[in-house]
Amino acid sequence: MDIDQAIRERHTVRIYKKTPLPAEICKQLNERIKAINEGLDVFMSLVTNDYSALSTAVRITFSKNVNNYIVLSGKNESDLEEKLGYGGADIMLYAQTLGLNSWWVSGTYNKGNAREKGGIPGSNLIKGIIIIGYGENNGTPHKSKSTIDVSSYSGNPPFWFVRGVGTALLAPTAMNRQAFLIKGSGDKVSITYDKGPCSGLDLGIIKYHFEVGAGRENFSYE
Ligand SMILES: Cc1cc2nc3c(=O)[nH]c(=O)nc-3n(C[C@H](O)[C@H](O)[C@H](O)COP(=O)(O)O)c2cc1C
Repeated sequence: MDIDQAIRERHTVRIYKKTPLPAEICKQLNERIKAINEGLDVFMSLVTNDYSALSTAVRITFSKNVNNYIVLSGKNESDLEEKLGYGGADIMLYAQTLGLNSWWVSGTYNKGNAREKGGIPGSNLIKGIIIIGYGENNGTPHKSKSTIDVSSYSGNPPFWFVRGVGTALLAPTAMNRQAFLIKGSGDKVSITYDKGPCSGLDLGIIKYHFEVGAGRENFSYE
C-alpha cells in the first residue's frame, strides 16, 4: 500500500487489539520519525506499551487498548503547528501503510505524561499525540463537505486540482471541521484554514493530503 492508498483507507480508530507493535514495525516507524524530525526540525517521539498519555476519562469510556502513540512536539516557533500537522500526517499515513490504524488526539490527552514518556525537552511545546495500533476495526468514513464548499479555481479546474481537493477532503481535521479553502489559478495554489482550535495542525495536514492527491510537480504555492 502506498501513501495515496493509505489516505483512502484511513479513518480514525479508537478501539484497538492488545497486540503489541512488533520490533521491526517500531524500527521502521522510528526511522521515518527520524527523517521527519530532521527534515522539518521538529521533535516527534514514539512511545510503546504505555497508556498514560490518554486522559483517564477517555481511556475508560470510548476507547480500548490504547498502548502506543507518537508525541508531537517542537520548538516554540510560529509555524510549529503547521509543521507538526504536515509531519504528523506523514507518520500517520506511513503507519497505515504498515497495516496499523491511528487516532489523532489534540484535546483529551495528558501532556505531562506525554512529555515524560516521550522524552520531550522541557523547552519544547507539545501539540498532541497520534495513537497507533492494530484496530479492532478500520473505522468509518467521516461526514464530508463537498468540493464546492472548500475550493475555487479561476477557469476550468485541471484534473490534478480536482484530485488534490478530493484527497484533502479525506484528511482528518480537529472536530471534523474541514474549515479549509483551496484556491487555484493556473499552476498556483493557496491553502488557508479558518482560525480555531488546532487550525495550524489542520492546515499542515490538509497541505500534505492535497500535495499527495494533486502531485507536487503540478503546482506551486502562491
Ligand atoms: C488535529 C486533530 C485533533 C484531534 N483531536 C481529537 C481529540 O482530542 N479527541 C478525539 O476524539 N478525536 C480527535 N481528533 C479526531 C477527529 O475527530 C477526526 O479526525 C475527525 O472526526 C475526522 O474523522 P476521520 O479521522 O475518521 O477522518 C483530532 C483530529 C485532528 C486532525
